[in-house]
This record gives sequence, C-alpha cells and structure tokens, in this order.
Amino acid sequence: MNKLSMMQTKLLRITFSYVLTFLFSIGLVSIVGCSSDDSSWRPIIDEPSGDDDDDDNGELNFTYNPQSSLKDLAAYPVGMIVSAAKLSSSSDENESFKSILTDDYNSITAENDMKMANMFTAADTYDWSDGDEIVAYAKENNMRVHGHALLWHQSIPGWLNNFDGSDEEFETLIENYIKEAVSHFAQETFEDGTPVVASWDVVNEAFDGAQMRNSLFFQRMGEDYVAKCFQWAREVDSDVKLFYNDYNIAGEGTKRNSVINMVNNFASEGIPIDGVGLQMHVNHDWPTTNEINQAITAIANTGLLVHLSELDVKVNFNDDLEELTLERAQEQEKRYQEVAEAYANVPEEQQFGITIWGMRDRDSWLYEGGLEWPLLYNNNFEYKVAHRGFAEGLE
Ligand code: G3I
Repeated sequence: MNKLSMMQTKLLRITFSYVLTFLFSIGLVSIVGCSSDDSSWRPIIDEPSGDDDDDDNGELNFTYNPQSSLKDLAAYPVGMIVSAAKLSSSSDENESFKSILTDDYNSITAENDMKMANMFTAADTYDWSDGDEIVAYAKENNMRVHGHALLWHQSIPGWLNNFDGSDEEFETLIENYIKEAVSHFAQETFEDGTPVVASWDVVNEAFDGAQMRNSLFFQRMGEDYVAKCFQWAREVDSDVKLFYNDYNIAGEGTKRNSVINMVNNFASEGIPIDGVGLQMHVNHDWPTTNEINQAITAIANTGLLVHLSELDVKVNFNDDLEELTLERAQEQEKRYQEVAEAYANVPEEQQFGITIWGMRDRDSWLYEGGLEWPLLYNNNFEYKVAHRGFAEGLE
C-alpha cells in the first residue's frame, strides 16, 4: 500500500471514527468491538483518557494518535528494551508490547537478560538461552540487537562476588567470559551476513563521578581493566561495535571529562573502542537543555559513535506530583523533543541511535509505587504526548 492510499485509508478511518463516536455519543450505536487488521491502525485518542487501571491511582494520561512510526521518522535506529519472557509470551499484554515494538522500533536491547548476572552462571559456565531467544526474535523481525552489558558492577553473580581464587584466576574467568559471550552472540546473522548482535556495552558505569569506580573488577584486575575488556572483545570479533556506557555523562561535566579522557587515551594507545553510550536517564527539568547539547557534542567530538542508550524522562523526581498533570506531561513532551533535537546535531556517520529504556510507564525501573511516568506509552499502551515530542524531535 503506497503512502497516499495509506493516508487516504487513515483519513477515511479517522472520519469513520468521529462519525461513529458522534453516533455512539447520542446513543444511536454502541461499539461492541471494533478492530482492524491493519497493524498500523491506532485508536483516535486526543482527549485526556482516564486510566481504568485502579491500582494506578486513577492517574490521568494525556495521549494522542501518531501518524507515523518512530523508526520511519528517524534517520538512525530507534531502540526499545525487551526481555525473553516478554517476547516469548502470547498474553494480550505482551502481544500489545510486541505490536508497538515492531511498529515503532528497529533496534532492541536486553534490559537484563544479557547481563553477567544472568549469563555467567558459574566458573567457565554460561547460559546464553535468554539472549538467544532475543536474538532469534530480532532476526525474525529484522531488528538490530545491542548487547548490554558484558561488565557492570551491579550485575555480578553471587558466586563471582564470593570467588576466593587469586586475582589472576579472577581475571582469566573474566577474559574467558567476554570472549565466549562475544563469540557466541556473533554467530547469528541476517540473510545478508550482517550480525544480528551489532554491538556491546563492553563496560558499563566504570566511573563514580570523575574517578574510576572502586568495583570488584577494579580491585581484582587493576585500573586498566576497562582497556583489557575491550581488547578481549576485539580479539574474538573484529566487526562488532564496542561501546563504553555510563550515566550522567550529560549532567556531570567532571564525569564526562573523565570518560572523554579515557576514550581519547584508548585511541592514542590503540585500544579498540567504537562508541560511547550516554544513558540519558534525565528529568523533565534536569540537566539543562544547554548541558544536554554540550554533552552530546563533546562525545561526538571524540569521533566515536554516539548512542543515547537508556533514555527516559522522570517527571516526579521531586515527588511534587500525586498524578501526572497535563502541564508536567507537556513538559515531558518538550524534554523528549529537546533530546532528539540535540542528537540530530551528531554527524550522521556517528549516529548509532537512541534507545528508550522501557515501554509503558509501569514497565520502567523507575515506576516503584506508581508515582513516576517516565516513558512514551501509558499503562494502556496508549501514546502519551511524550511520544509526540520524541517523534517531533526525530523529524
Ligand atoms: O528476575 C528476578 C525475579 O526472579 C525476582 O523475583 C525479583 C525480585 O527480587 O528480581 C528479579 O530481578 C530483577 C531484574 O531487574 C528483573 O526484573 C532485579 O531484582 C532488579 O535489580 C533488576 O533491575 C534492573 C537493574 O538494571 C539492575 O540490573 C532493571 O530492570 C533495569 O532497568 C536496570 O537497568 C539499568 C541498566 O542496565 C544500566 N543503567 C542503569 C539502568 C537502571 O538501573
């Protein structure tokens, strides 16, 4: 179906929907079930819709009806986080998840399934099964996988935390893990030979402010452990894109400078690295727009790929809301647009993409207690105006 006929179809449907809504409103017709087989068709919702999910404190969500998918608007990959459980489940909820996933996105990151705590089950023992499920789904749906994350101090399996071998033995375990993981996930390719797993966060959050974090890896492998991990990954895969990933690169200038110094030193010392992930867990009012632009530009100036790897926008950081207000929803819309517009300034050849860290507000790592609404879709999978802001910023 070409765009014009698609637009005509949508126009007819919009008209039909308004007529139906009018007839329904005057009681001339009751809608007992109206579905469409066109997966791109979405309900017309441009009024504040009450959330019928009572355990969400009757929060009001303010939504809209998108006309294009995010991946069609963006000049670069747009990503979403997933889990093997969500992808393999055929529940109504997860079917809705997958419908939006394949409609709006062309890149996926495992929220937790490809982390060390889930895959490194014992010494020289690995469980790739969840990651394999995600890769299989991505291959079937022609979506890129970004591997997250080979080393992260918050995802160390208990047995490794308690490992009582020597530092040398510890380092050998890590070297073998990295080489086995990168090799394993390099195997699946699309028909054209392109690997499904395009990239890895090799090390996540090695800095604590401006200093190297005193993590188990730092303690047992020394301050050059980050470089070692990138070298080991490159030894087994010459093509996969290797990223360093961290939070508050926009927001903490001293931390940003330490990251930039590290990656510049890698370049001068011949340590293989391809990109930097700015997680971008931001607030509707922090950091400043100027700081966000400065940070993205500073990372782009390293010449490496730039990934906004975990974007979400908190709107209740100061706990001043009992429900999402229209005003704050619109501030969130503006913030998502600003971030996407800032990313547009990255040279095209360095635009690795933007990944959103969760689908519905309730799916977010920030949702605890239900008084945070950081994402693009509400708890009914409706499109929040935040989605509109992000879409505007992609155009
Ligand atoms: O799977 C277990 C379940 O069996 C158990 O019953 C339950 C209760 O203990 O825990 C479940 O595991 C949780 C896991 O998410 C899966 O839901 C872990 O406790 C919980 O700590 C883990 O949180 C994740 C967090 O990273 C720590 O790994 C979040 O979902 C995830 O969004 C968050 O993402 C991180 C990025 O990877 C790195 N950047 C920061 C970002 C936010 O912390």
